[in-house]
Amino acid sequence: MAHFTSLDELSTHEIERLIGRGLQLKQGAPVQPLPTKTVANLFFEHSTRTKCSFDMAEHHLGLHILPFETATSSVQKGETLLDTCKTLQAIGVDALVIRHGETGYYEQLQQQLSIPIINAGDGSGQHPSQSLLDLMTMYEAYGHVTGKTIVICGDLRHSRVARSNTQVLQRLGATVIGSGPREWFDETMGIAYRKMDEAVATSDIIMLLRVQHERHVDDYPFATEAYHERYGLTEKRMKWIRPDAIVLHPAPVNRGVEIAEALVEHPQSRIFDQMTNGVFARMAILERAFETSTTKETR
Ligand code: NCD
Repeated sequence: MAHFTSLDELSTHEIERLIGRGLQLKQGAPVQPLPTKTVANLFFEHSTRTKCSFDMAEHHLGLHILPFETATSSVQKGETLLDTCKTLQAIGVDALVIRHGETGYYEQLQQQLSIPIINAGDGSGQHPSQSLLDLMTMYEAYGHVTGKTIVICGDLRHSRVARSNTQVLQRLGATVIGSGPREWFDETMGIAYRKMDEAVATSDIIMLLRVQHERHVDDYPFATEAYHERYGLTEKRMKWIRPDAIVLHPAPVNRGVEIAEALVEHPQSRIFDQMTNGVFARMAILERAFETSTTKETR
């Protein structure tokens, strides 16, 4: 069963194959349409990019999309996620794309379902499709990530993007460092902390994160301007970055907080390229889900 819940489940060979496939699809490689297959997209947390790019990827693959809205579903009557998924499986859905606020929600589901689950983000856990599109964007810039230094800046503790990316980048031979507020630095991620000025000046890839207000239990301790000055990519810091460095952000971007307004579309920013790449990364992921011969990988 080709679930896609965490990149940790895939061999490095399989990850590189998916990056390559995403890049080929972007170049216009032909696809094998899948019109006999039906997918449902279950988004229990808000989403623009991930949901719309999964929709777009599904359209490009000729998949049928079964409309599902959490707000009008029986989840509102107390039905569990497992029963919702089992219902969709019972009525003939062939794969489920799920975003859910509970970290690791998929662990129980993958034991109990016979159709693939594609994780579109779980709480503060994993965001493997985001990591794949981030990797595609890095490979477009450098051809690989081995030996590259990536700084991930901001709310690391609450970020599934930070967690997913750190794990896969380290496996692929990159050095990952963290920056941003010390109180949101996560020692369990196994990366070194650097102050923002030094971190941005010495990295090949600068990945900014949105503050995950929805996952905070304590009040937000910073005024917007203070956060930007201390931990954001300001216009001043931008002058120090390497000439070939690239700037990433999974978005949604809070302009003037994590990144200065004028830098979002700076020539070294790849933020909108990431969004474009998301469609092709997700096509590669969906193709894999429907490859009948795929068995669970060993690392
Ligand atoms: C991210 C997410 O939802 O984890 N967004 C996304 O998928 N592009 C990051 C975020 O919401 O800050």
